[in-house]
Amino acid sequence: MNAPARPGPPYPTAARLGVIEPFHAMALFRRAVAREAAGRSVIHMSLGEPDFGAPPAVVAALDAAIRAGQAGYTPACGITPLREAIAAHYARVHGVDVAPQRIVVTAGATGALQLACALLLDPGSEVLMPDPTYPCNRHIVSAFNATTTLIPAGPEKRFQLDAADIAAHWGPRTRGAMLASPSNPTGTTIAPAQLQAVLDALRARSGFLVFDEIYNELTYGAEKPRTALALGDDVIVLNSFSKYFCMTGWRLGWMVVPEALAADVEKLAMNLFICPPATAQHAALACFAPESIGIYEQRRAEFARRRDFIVPALRELGFGVPTEPDGAFYVYADCARFGVPSEQLADRLLDEAGVCLVPGIDFGVQDAQRWMRVTYSTSLERLHEAVERMRRYLATP
Ligand SMILES: Cc1ncc(COP(=O)(O)O)c(C=O)c1O
Repeated sequence: MNAPARPGPPYPTAARLGVIEPFHAMALFRRAVAREAAGRSVIHMSLGEPDFGAPPAVVAALDAAIRAGQAGYTPACGITPLREAIAAHYARVHGVDVAPQRIVVTAGATGALQLACALLLDPGSEVLMPDPTYPCNRHIVSAFNATTTLIPAGPEKRFQLDAADIAAHWGPRTRGAMLASPSNPTGTTIAPAQLQAVLDALRARSGFLVFDEIYNELTYGAEKPRTALALGDDVIVLNSFSKYFCMTGWRLGWMVVPEALAADVEKLAMNLFICPPATAQHAALACFAPESIGIYEQRRAEFARRRDFIVPALRELGFGVPTEPDGAFYVYADCARFGVPSEQLADRLLDEAGVCLVPGIDFGVQDAQRWMRVTYSTSLERLHEAVERMRRYLATP
């Protein structure tokens, strides 16, 4: 039977809809949920969401905030104690002095990305990004009628841009670059010297650097990478309570902007969002309490253990992991060896092995069908089970 025809729009809609794509990961996720509803098991290794919730002190602070009626509008850039707590976090963890007035609390890093685009882009402006990259970046750029230049960044460069890329792809409409370290989907950080060179190349062209540090506290090397704020007050840094702080649905993040732009960002924030969620802001103060940080650091160690299991296990299954992921909770795995496009492989692994992964097409165009994002934000026990399921499926002739 043919599917019923979708009704056409009742009136013309914006042309930008033609360039904004849905997440393929969400379509797969919906299929995974349907499979579970039909009584079949799925191991979710697709969405980028920690399997831990907010620690007890944060939940208690939320409860107290609601009881105290701290649920009205707040200042557009967030409550002062939270901006101060974030500034203190930069001083404690990174040894960097950031004035609280430069910190804008937002509705997730997504709210920060929208503010950054509203601040920096005109219709027709171009933004440089690595391919692969977090897809919302380019879609939010499109929502502001600007365009993205995706620059191929393969494993030999740890999937990050370098200064030569900035020079080679800079054009008359280019305004700057958006990078993330560690990156989603690759889990790889940018080397400090490479970042400095990228920033120098951007400064030489009066370009901006929007640097997404949402996974910065989730890194597994001997030392945590220092924030890019240490490189100068001109860098715009994004961060969030979603990942390290395990509060995805609370919709809270922040952005650090140059002092000279703070008033403009405030003007945009009050118009676009009025304010970030009030109760979440009051609760988030407890994220920085020593007992919460202790819990977050234990979880970071657990993510490192999971990475140390999954990377060699994937290699043993036949996936290529040509460069060691050192942060976030992602591995960008090369599926070339299996001889089918990653989109098909993801379908088959879901349907026949009950393991949900995300094919590269969500993250870029360059060799996208070769790559698969594997998310390890699930327990070690489930990861072992997922590897066994994939082993059985891949061994089937
Ligand atoms: C690199 C990156 N930036 C931003 C976001 C958005 O996060 P938030 O929940 O803070 O809006 C995500 C979410 O997965 C991400 O991976």
